[in-house]
Amino acid sequence: MKRSIIITGGAGFIGSHVVRLFVEKYPDYRIICLDSLTYAGNLANLKDLEDKPNFKFVKMDICDFDSVYTLMQLEKVDGIIHLAAESHVDRSIKDPFTFAKTNVLGTLSLLQAAKASWEPHQYVMPESGVACRFHHISTDEVYGALELTRPDGVEPPFSTKASSGSHHLAYGEDFFTEDRSYQPHRPYSAAKASSDHFVRAFHDTYGLPVVVTNCSNNYGPYQFPEKLIPLFINNIRLRRPLPVYGRGENVRDWLYVEDHARAIDLVFHKGKDAETYNIGGFNEWKNIDVIKLLIATVDRQLGRPEGADLDLITFVTDRAGHDMRYAIDSRKLQRELGWEPSLQFEEGIDRTVRWYLSNQDWLDNVTSGNYQSYYDEMYGNR
Ligand code: NAD
Ligand code: TYD
Repeated sequence: MKRSIIITGGAGFIGSHVVRLFVEKYPDYRIICLDSLTYAGNLANLKDLEDKPNFKFVKMDICDFDSVYTLMQLEKVDGIIHLAAESHVDRSIKDPFTFAKTNVLGTLSLLQAAKASWEPHQYVMPESGVACRFHHISTDEVYGALELTRPDGVEPPFSTKASSGSHHLAYGEDFFTEDRSYQPHRPYSAAKASSDHFVRAFHDTYGLPVVVTNCSNNYGPYQFPEKLIPLFINNIRLRRPLPVYGRGENVRDWLYVEDHARAIDLVFHKGKDAETYNIGGFNEWKNIDVIKLLIATVDRQLGRPEGADLDLITFVTDRAGHDMRYAIDSRKLQRELGWEPSLQFEEGIDRTVRWYLSNQDWLDNVTSGNYQSYYDEMYGNR
C-alpha cells in the first residue's frame, strides 16, 4: 500500500463522500474510516464500499487517545483527514458541552496521537519515505457573520468583483478570506475555532505537518435530515410544515458536497504545509429562496402541480443569535491549486432532490433511528 490514511467522521455526511472518493480513486491506499457512530454517523452511507479491499471501518471515539495511537501504530498511518465533529448549530445551542468534548478535546487527542506516532521519525514514514500530514476540516462559521449590504442602492443579489466566474451573485461586499480574524458566535463555531487553533498550535510548537480547510455550507446525498436542505426535502415529500427561522432572510453560501470532497483531495495532496484554504462556490442564497427552489424541484419531480406545496412554509421563532450571512472567498484555492466548483446550484439541487426521493428507505431509516442497530447487525460479532 502506498499510503495509509485515517479519515475520521467518515460515516457522516461529508466524510462518507471523502471516504468514497479516496477508496475509489486510490486503490493503492489503505483507507481507514474511524467513526464512533453517533446519531449522525451511519454505516449505510458507506454500504457500497464494504467489500473494497482498500477500505476498513473502525468504530472508535476520537477522544480515546490510547486506541487511536495503537491503531496508528498497527496500520502505519501516515495521514489523517479529520472530519469527525458534532456539526449541528441548533444542537450546540442546547448542549454546548458535547461540542467542546468532541470538537476540541477530540481534536486534541488526535493531534497528540499523530504527534506521538510521527515525531520520533521527524514526520516522515521510515519505510515508505512518505511525508506525514494532518488535514483538519473546518467551517466558514469560525469567521463570524457578515452583514447584508447594498452598494449604491442596488438591490441584492448583485454581481461582485470577488467572483472568478460569471455566476457570482452576492448579498454583501465583504467576504471571508483566510487571513480574517476569528469571531465565532455559536457554541458549534466556537468549538470548531478552538480546534483550528489547536491544530495550528501543534504545527507552531511541535512542527506537526498540518493543513486546514474552511468550507461553506454543504448539501447533497447522505446529509442527516436535521439540516435545512434534507429536512425540508423530506418534509415537502411528506407534506409536513417547513419551519423557516425568522423571515428566511439569512444568507448561506452553498457548495455541492462532492465539490468539497474534491477540494479536500487536492489540498491533502498538494496544499502547502501550515496553510489555510477556504472552500466555497461563490453561491449565496437567501434561505427563503432556497426553500422555494426546493418546493419547486420536489413538486416537479413528484409530478405535483407547480407550487402546490408553497403553503407548507411556516415562519417560526428565529434561532438564537442567528448569523445573518456567510460568504466565502475561495480564490486562493482556485489560484494556487486550480480547484473550481463543478455544479450550478439549481443542477445540484435537482440531483440532490432526486437522490433523496429515490432513497426514501434511507430517509425513513434515519428519521426513525432504525439505522442505529445496523452496526451491530453488520459488525457486532466480528
Ligand atoms: P456529520 O454530523 O454528518 O458527521 C459527523 C461524523 O462524525 C459522524 O459520522 C459521527 O458519528 C462522527 N463523530 C462524531 N463524534 C465523534 C467522535 N467523538 N469520535 C468519532 N467519530 C465521531 O457532519 P458533516 O456535516 O459531515 O461535517 C463533517 C465535518 O465538516 C465537520 O468537522 C464539520 O465541522 C465540517 N464542515 C461541515 C459543513 C457542512 O455544511 N456540513 C461545512 C463546513 C465544514
Ligand atoms: P443549517 O442547515 O442548520 O446550517 P447552518 O446553521 O450551519 O448554516 O441551516 C441553514 C440555514 O437554514 C440557517 O440560516 C438556519 C436555517 N434553518 C431554518 O430556517 N429552519 C430549519 O429548520 C433549519 C434546520 C435551518
